[in-house]
Amino acid sequence: MKIKKFAPYVIVLASIGLGMYGCKKEEPPIVKVDETTYDEQGFAIDIRMENPAYEEHTKGIMMFSHKKHFEEYKIGCGECHHDENNEPLELKIGDPIQGCIECHTIPGKWVKDSGKDKLDYHADAIHQNCKECHTTYNKENNTRAAPTTCVKCHPRK
Ligand code: HEC
Ligand code: HEC
Ligand code: HEC
Ligand code: HEC
Repeated sequence: MKIKKFAPYVIVLASIGLGMYGCKKEEPPIVKVDETTYDEQGFAIDIRMENPAYEEHTKGIMMFSHKKHFEEYKIGCGECHHDENNEPLELKIGDPIQGCIECHTIPGKWVKDSGKDKLDYHADAIHQNCKECHTTYNKENNTRAAPTTCVKCHPRK
């Protein structure tokens, strides 16, 4: 298993972060529109969801508010990150993770009669994770704040 996939980025960015913010604490974190951004601890703030395993993305690319889900919406890491037995992971900030694609390996959406499991498909695993929680949350809170329709997540190309 290639557990350390994201580790080099996190370490490099964390050290840049520490270098830059160690002395000037009042500076805001690096913000670069439309690219994954990191806070001073190397935690991904907003993730550009454009997995390089895809030859082509048919839908608009979204920015996923990673840090907000954890900090503002109070979603634990293990609600989204699990191990090879689908057991929720207990993570700390700075821990490396395996990308979803490493286990949900086929880029794209499930093809009927493909002989494969739906969850083998990356887009289906992602959609199931995001949409199940959003649907439940909206129902319980009588709101539509958590997006469940295509265009609310995928901006028009
Ligand atoms: C609401 C779902 C969700 C929550 C909560 C969440 N993550 Fe993530 N995280 C993701 C997704 C989705 C990705 C992108 C993975 C991919 O593209 O394969 C990701 C990516 C990451 C990455 C790699 C970022 C990068 O691009 O370098 C790390 C590290 C990580 N998460 C750690 C954590 C930790 C630690 C917590 C808890 C403090 C956490 N995550 C909470 C969904 C979540
Ligand atoms: C280390 C391997 C591994 C990684 C990494 C991984 N998964 Fe999974 N995932 C699994 C396994 C194994 C299952 C169970 C498969 C089954 O039941 O057919 C699973 C099941 C799921 C399910 C169904 C959950 C349920 O309980 O019914 C969803 C949704 C899902 N994964 C989404 C994700 C997302 C999103 C990511 C990235 C943030 C991710 N997975 C990363 C291995 C992984
Ligand atoms: C366990 C619950 C949970 C999971 C899993 C989850 N979300 Fe959310 N999401 C929420 C909640 C709660 C809100 C906030 C609703 C509100 O503002 O009241 C939200 C809001 C959002 C929003 C709109 C506001 C914002 O922060 O940008 C987007 C976009 C979004 N989620 C994307 C995603 C994506 C993409 C995934 C899957 C990779 C995902 N979410 C997984 C709970 C979840
Ligand atoms: C909660 C947000 C969310 C919703 C709602 C959503 N998607 Fe996605 N979708 C994603 C994310 C995140 C990915 C993963 C992209 C990546 O990591 O490369 C994805 C991937 C895809 C992909 C594979 C990549 C591509 O662009 O070809 C397709 C196709 C897709 N979605 C279609 C849809 C359709 C159709 C709907 C509505 C029925 C929908 N999505 C609803 C977030 C969402």
